[in-house]
Amino acid sequence: MNNSPIGIFDSGIGGLSILKEINRVLPNENTIYLADNKNCPYGNKNISEIIKLSLKNASVLIEMNCKIIVIACNTATTNAIKEIRNSFSVPVIGIEPAIKPAILNTKTNKIGVLATEMTLTSNLFNQTSNKFSDNIEIIEQIGFGLVNLIEKGNINKENTKQLLKSYIDPMLDSNIDQLVLGCTHYHFLIPIIRQIIPEKITIQDPNKAIAKQIKKILKSENLENSLKSNYKNKVYANGNTEIIRNIINSNGEVNSLDF
Ligand code: DGL
Repeated sequence: MNNSPIGIFDSGIGGLSILKEINRVLPNENTIYLADNKNCPYGNKNISEIIKLSLKNASVLIEMNCKIIVIACNTATTNAIKEIRNSFSVPVIGIEPAIKPAILNTKTNKIGVLATEMTLTSNLFNQTSNKFSDNIEIIEQIGFGLVNLIEKGNINKENTKQLLKSYIDPMLDSNIDQLVLGCTHYHFLIPIIRQIIPEKITIQDPNKAIAKQIKKILKSENLENSLKSNYKNKVYANGNTEIIRNIINSNGEVNSLDF
């Protein structure tokens, strides 16, 4: 099992930012990444659809003999992590909006959260934000349309910037000093978000923390890869593979797979 891959999934390209971090922090580990981009976006689907798609992705990774599952998607984590954990015996790690670090760091007591509709309405997100948010105002905004624009590769386009501005400007007017990116796709928007927000505002993007957490769990579960020279990175998509190829460059192969 130790030499088996780490399995990662997202609705599309969002989790590639986490994959990159995993490959950096755990250079000896093999990875398999599934982009369920045929069914993207997840963020406006109903909860039973999100659970069904998430279980399907996880079972494909289990069939590929993955030793741990990383849900590189806030929407799938906040709506389906319990069902995935109940269905499989391997460790399951998810990603949630980084509310806690934002609350610990805020000086204005106001934080902004940009995420998908189904993340912001999920029980898990609301439990976490209620738990940590005494005296803190959380300004939530659904990033309507952003995932589709990112999946089409329209990351540096003026209309993407204007849409983002319409979501972020009201947060700035409310005097936030922390902006939580609660969707893995939004990581790719950081360069344009930086053009919109003042330097003093911290962007909370949990990718680095997730990779460290995976490292910790592999160690504590005795699942670290012992074959040091065996590193392999496989990416599978059931929809368009071109945008994925552009993002990962030479960092691994991208295969079409119907799942
Ligand atoms: N990347 C995902 C997330 O972190 C899902 C986006 C979507 O498919 O709507 O929420």
